[in-house]
This record gives sequence, C-alpha cells and structure tokens, in this order.
Amino acid sequence: MAAPQVPGELLDRLATARHVVVLTGAGVSAESGVPTFRDAQTGLWSRFRPEQLATVAAFESDPPTVWAWYEWRRDLVGKAEPNPGHLALARLEALVPRLTLVTQNVDGLHRRAGSRDPIEFHGNLFENRCLDCGLQADDVPRPCPSPPRCIACRGWIRPGVVWFGEAIPAAALARSFAAAEDCDLFLSVGTSAEVYPAAGLALAAKRHGATLVEVNPLPTSLARHADFVLSAASGTALPAMCDALARRVEVNIHAR
Ligand code: OAD
Repeated sequence: MAAPQVPGELLDRLATARHVVVLTGAGVSAESGVPTFRDAQTGLWSRFRPEQLATVAAFESDPPTVWAWYEWRRDLVGKAEPNPGHLALARLEALVPRLTLVTQNVDGLHRRAGSRDPIEFHGNLFENRCLDCGLQADDVPRPCPSPPRCIACRGWIRPGVVWFGEAIPAAALARSFAAAEDCDLFLSVGTSAEVYPAAGLALAAKRHGATLVEVNPLPTSLARHADFVLSAASGTALPAMCDALARRVEVNIHAR
C-alpha cells in the first residue's frame, strides 16, 4: 500500500502540539502477522466465539480450553516482530513534547518496539494472576500446556487480560481519560472503535477540543468526527507521518 500524503495542516498541528495521545488497536499489529478481532475472514472473532474464550464464565467452565487458546496466542505473538508502525510510534515520542500511548493490544509489541510507557488498557497476554485471590503469578513457565494453580490459594491461574464484562484496571482507565482530556491532538490507529470504554477516549479528546486523527485502511464510525483521516495501513502511514514531521521540526529549528 502506497504511503499516504500527510496533509500540511496536520503536520502543523502535530508540530505545535503540546500533548499527543495515541490509541492503538489490533490493526497496528496486523502487519506483524497478529490477527485482528473483527476483520472479515482473518479476524479472531470470525473464527472463535468471544463468549467461549474471553469471559470469566468461559474460563470457569473449561480452564484448559481457554488457557490453551491463550497459549496459542502467546506462541503467535512470541514469533512476531514489531512492524514499522510500532517503530514509528516509538520514534514519535522524541518528536513531540509529550506523548501518551494507550493500547488495547495485549501483545507487548509497542514495548518491544521501544515505546517507553504504553498504557495497556486491556492488560497483557504474558502476565498472569489467580482467578480467585488475584495474586500475580510471575513464574509461569513458557510454554505451559495447562493452567497452573495459585501457590497461595490453589485457585486457577488466568491470563492477565481484560475479558468481556470485566472492568478496565482503574489506574489505566484514569490515566487514559486524563490524558485524552488534556491532549491537543489524538491519533486513533488501527482500531474499529467499537469497544468501550476505549472507543470513548477519542470522543472525550474531541469534546475537550483536541484535533482528532484516524489512521485505518477502512473508515470507522469515528471518521465522521475526525479532522483528518489517513486511509492507509499504519505500517506505511505512521512512518510517512513521522518522516514528514521530523523534516518540519528540523526546518523550524533552522528558521529560528
Ligand atoms: P478490531 O479487530 O475490532 O479492529 C481492527 C481495526 O484495524 C479495523 O478497523 C481494521 O480496519 C484495522 N486495520 C486492519 N489492518 C490494519 C493496518 N495494517 N493498519 C491500520 N489499521 C488496520 O480490533 P480492536 O479495535 O483493537 O478486546 O478491538 C478492540 C478490542 O476488541 C480488543 O482489544 C479486544 C477485542 O475484543 C478484548 O479482548 C477485551
């Protein structure tokens, strides 16, 4: 896919932004070979039923099956590498005064790409805790074919991701909404913007006066609220945006 033309007005706003917030979704990892959830044919939810794999009830009724599905995803992500989109977002941190990265992804690829402190809104695939007492389980071996038991209470150890019907971790929720309400530019990248409360971050930013930018090859319901839409894959759009911004920042420095 060809790199999109980045509008000059968008570059101006990026170059003068005080605080940029980026929300990423599964689309940003698609070019690393990690399947999205809702893309027709390739999305995980076209092949698997969320209520049988991503709820507390599902895990309680069949811990080995649910655990095995997460082991499969851990294997897949373990073999994946950050792509140019992840790397561009890590680079963007150095090009703006303040950047808050919020990700719905549980794959850890932003951290591996060099992003310093991503807020993992839906948790992390490689963290585990006890279903009953909540004790963090840091010593689960990999691979681990069946769900281990908690060393404290013998409860089942579950993956540290947010399942349907569960609350977002309070600190992640508070930090993300505070950042969205404070920022002057909000980038929504590779997300269908269908799952709340994450999807509410972009609208909160817009309500508080931020410029809203969507990066997605297919328009979402957010597009009609957006000031700019880059209809392209994040692996091409984000490097193009960073390159153009870096040139703009350099020109501004020389002009001073
Ligand atoms: P979705 O699968 O809902 O949406 C992925 C989006 O990425 C779609 O809008 C695609 O058009 C877009 N996309 C595909 N390839 C892309 C590319 N190369 N570059 C940019 N965009 C691309 O994934 P999310 O929005 O992340 O929740 O889904 C949100 C949540 O729903 C997930 O965190 C997960 C899921 O159920 C939990 O597990 C709690």
